[in-house]
Amino acid sequence: MSSLFFLVFLFSSFLTLNVDANPNYVEALSKSLLFFQGQRSGPLPTDQQLSWRASSGLSDGSSANVDLTGAYYDAGDNVKFNFPMAFTTTMLSWSTFDYGEQMGLELQNARVNIRWATDYLLKCATATPGKLYVGVGDPNADHKCWERPEDMDTPRTVYSVSPSNPGSDVAAETAAALAAASMVFREVDSEYSLLLLATAKNVMEFAIKYRGNYSDSLSSSVCPFYCSYSGYKDELMWGAAWLQKATNDPNYKNFIESLGGGDHPDIFNWDSKYAGAYVLLSQRALVNKDINYELYKQEAESFIRKILPNSPSTHYTPGGLMYKLPQSNLQHVTAITFLLTTYAKYMKATQHIFNCGNSVIVNPDTLISLSKQQVDYILGENPIKMSYMVGFGSRFPMRIHHRASSLPSQVLLSKPFNCTEGFQFYHTQNPNPNIVTGAIVGGPDKNDEYPDKRDHYIHSEPGTYINAPFVRPLAYFASRGSA
Ligand SMILES: *[C@@H]1O[C@H](CO)[C@@H](O)[C@H](O)[C@H]1NC(C)=O
Ligand SMILES: *[C@@H]1O[C@H](CO)[C@@H](O)[C@H](O)[C@H]1NC(C)=O
Repeated sequence: MSSLFFLVFLFSSFLTLNVDANPNYVEALSKSLLFFQGQRSGPLPTDQQLSWRASSGLSDGSSANVDLTGAYYDAGDNVKFNFPMAFTTTMLSWSTFDYGEQMGLELQNARVNIRWATDYLLKCATATPGKLYVGVGDPNADHKCWERPEDMDTPRTVYSVSPSNPGSDVAAETAAALAAASMVFREVDSEYSLLLLATAKNVMEFAIKYRGNYSDSLSSSVCPFYCSYSGYKDELMWGAAWLQKATNDPNYKNFIESLGGGDHPDIFNWDSKYAGAYVLLSQRALVNKDINYELYKQEAESFIRKILPNSPSTHYTPGGLMYKLPQSNLQHVTAITFLLTTYAKYMKATQHIFNCGNSVIVNPDTLISLSKQQVDYILGENPIKMSYMVGFGSRFPMRIHHRASSLPSQVLLSKPFNCTEGFQFYHTQNPNPNIVTGAIVGGPDKNDEYPDKRDHYIHSEPGTYINAPFVRPLAYFASRGSA
């Protein structure tokens, strides 16, 4: 009893702010998925709802005589970076196959979003034998320009990894994405699902056989944008965990064991995957009672202990937001909140609780309360009453760091903007003309303040990997109604 009391006391100071808050989670879920339409590359379909966008990148891949059209621009620029894109796809897929039944009408939109990425990832993996394409668009040239994706005149350079220039990080993440997506489509399109899984196995084999960091061979084409700072071992564990989940092949488990454990992170993002792998693998320990997975459960719980508000590893803003790093902090909040709600589900299913230091008991509600607080904060329950989801609530970011959003739509003004002409729209104080509905930006600073300035990209830039992990927590709270 006393330990429970202590727990309630400990968290109450963080919860009072939001005690009555109930944003419209159904609307937020819908918008979080609509966002991906604003990031689309390739030929747009007739049912494109964000109608200020038009087709773009239609000859992507042509410099290598392959078709690499489609997929998503990763953030506010016009580059297709497969490393974060594959992570985005893995997280969207995990949200969808784990929580799809609670998504209602949004389930179909989630599948469409996943397929928009996996159609491209399949092409990247199969277009040229012995190569995995890992990106399109010269990021250094792109970042010197401010132009609509529809007008791009920068080099659409094609990047790849191969046995002589390996990239186990990007390959294993691609394998994870394809394997996770194969589970989403298993019931609805078994042929597509089998293709995804077969390709995932091949790409994983390549990742395992030819070890290396993709940053070593691609250097300034991926760094400092999406450098593999944490190396590739975390992706090998993560990729193998997904393959193991999708195939039940014990060889993947043996491979994971051969890695000899991993780091003890306090973060989870497009570069650092151990925490995700631990939570994913811990499902076997908890739900399937498989003793062989006990280690990953321990690791998952030790990760969560580092996240709880009393831990020295995680700072919280005065308004109660988890604060990990200044650059695009909300990516960490959405990804970690994903893991908290996922672990809470495993705990609830098995009536599991665990201990957090001095007789503090962590139960599923502990994790759900903390998650709700983070979700509500992002949706506007914060000291400055700012929703960090564009187009949601009465006050949201108006000057996001996003080329297509800040330039006049090609639909209205068909005259192309060249590389430098667009910067007049970057430097203006005016709000962006096009609303990227559902985009979650990098978020406030450590004092809960938000400047709403285009050039403060660490706060004002959205990213596919910020939104993707948010889908699951939103689906969870949306399906609980107003409770
Ligand atoms: C890959 O990167 C990690 C992290 O920077 C580093 O520790 C490791 O030695 C690198 N591996 C190779 C094979 O270069
Ligand atoms: C872009 O267009 C402007 C005129 O609007 C011109 O002065 C400039 O040279 C052009 N820049 C490039 C890179 O073509």
